[in-house]
Amino acid sequence: MGEKPEAIGVGLFGLGTVGSGVVRLLEEHREELAEEIGHPLVIRKAVVQNIAKERAVSVDPALLSTEAEAILDDPEIRVVIEVIGGIEPARTYILEALKRGKHVVTANKDLMALHGAELIDVARAHGCDLFYEASVGGGIPIIRTLIDGFASDRITKIYGIINGTTNYILTQMSRRGRSFEEALREAQALGYAEADPSSDVDGLDAARKMVILATLGFHMPIGLEDVTTQGIRGLEARDIAFAEEFGYAVKLLGTALRENGHVEIGVFPTLVPKDHPLANVHDVFNAVFVYGEAVGETMFYGRGAGSLPTATAVVSDVVAAVKNMLLGVSGKRLSRPYREKKLKEPSEIKNRFYFRLTVQDSPGVLAHITQDLSQSGVSIERIVQYPNQESGEADILIITHTTSLAQLDEALGRIRRMPALRRIHTVLRVLAM
Ligand SMILES: NC(=O)c1ccc[n+]([C@@H]2O[C@H](COP(=O)([O-])OP(=O)(O)OC[C@H]3O[C@@H](n4cnc5c(N)ncnc54)[C@H](OP(=O)(O)O)[C@@H]3O)[C@@H](O)[C@H]2O)c1
Repeated sequence: MGEKPEAIGVGLFGLGTVGSGVVRLLEEHREELAEEIGHPLVIRKAVVQNIAKERAVSVDPALLSTEAEAILDDPEIRVVIEVIGGIEPARTYILEALKRGKHVVTANKDLMALHGAELIDVARAHGCDLFYEASVGGGIPIIRTLIDGFASDRITKIYGIINGTTNYILTQMSRRGRSFEEALREAQALGYAEADPSSDVDGLDAARKMVILATLGFHMPIGLEDVTTQGIRGLEARDIAFAEEFGYAVKLLGTALRENGHVEIGVFPTLVPKDHPLANVHDVFNAVFVYGEAVGETMFYGRGAGSLPTATAVVSDVVAAVKNMLLGVSGKRLSRPYREKKLKEPSEIKNRFYFRLTVQDSPGVLAHITQDLSQSGVSIERIVQYPNQESGEADILIITHTTSLAQLDEALGRIRRMPALRRIHTVLRVLAM
């Protein structure tokens, strides 16, 4: 009999949805993981807020602590997993762990989007790994794909559905004709949306994920301030129904484009043609398209959240960190932006747009609108009028040809001065294929 391989100690900050999934995976896949790494992985401590809380997994009470030092001061803990979430104390715990030579795996998109560069610098300086696969797309291995899978290519475009909560709400609005408020309440009842849903419905969660994806994809130091963000709060079920009549599904898309070395990054509710695969990504699923100059189009689809799917990404990162440690290459392959950030000017950002106007149904209104649009250089791809005999009003739906937002804003400014106008509803993008 040979010697038993030494166990590798793991410390867990957080034992909630993702943390308990990590515990389950480490237990249920123990043998395969030990085979893969050559050493067993053993959780030595789990730091939580409330020790008395009931957990989704059974854990030896002796492993639980409320003191961060229980992990940070233990020299046997070589890899630290942070699944607390939020900025503090997660940031401090990660920095301390790195400074003490521990490798870190996190699922924290908020932290990586806002402080990723700082954390990666500290990791490199201390010869440690810092991996964050679970921060975008839950169980979809998109981060490693961007770093390794596209290492030989130049990424020109990344876009997709990266927030399950809003996708669930939009799916319910579309399939069941729910209002935004009704669909949101359902999502909250099912645990898909938080009590304060603003980060999801206002697009901030998706914007943070786009910071992470665009930074890796374009090798530029993209910040949250570079992402133009529009959420789904203002969406009306009517717009979703109208979009469907036009042959589109409405999805909240994150998009990152690079043209002639300049980039644009945004999060927008977008009309997606029904025959496009993204139109068929429903409920809490995520899907991301990545285009490379050489490879062309690729698509990644899967569960963007949930205990076990997210835990697979976390534990795969642990495996990668341990393998690097055993090979003596920790911290050497951490991706840092090496290109200067060059953003497109607003006039260079062009799209097709959909919008709906409610007007008083009187002669000449349509002609007035088309003239206002044409005077600002906005040309119409499609225009449809739906009169409402009872109210004496009409809904006018317009899809434009490709135009700049500046031109569209100018046209809408003109339309706003029209006496027959009752309301301009949410302006949506139309996916450029
Ligand atoms: N849930 C998902 O599907 C998902 C998907 C992708 C990424 N993520 C990311 O994963 C991270 C964790 O999410 P989650 O859903 O697992 O959160 P969660 O269920 O709320 O769990 C958070 C855990 O952190 C502990 N905690 C909170 N504050 C703490 C503190 N100050 N010190 C020590 N422990 C503290 C909590 O302790 P108690 O249990 O004692 O309260 C709890 O165990 C977040 O960054 C999230 O964005 C989650």
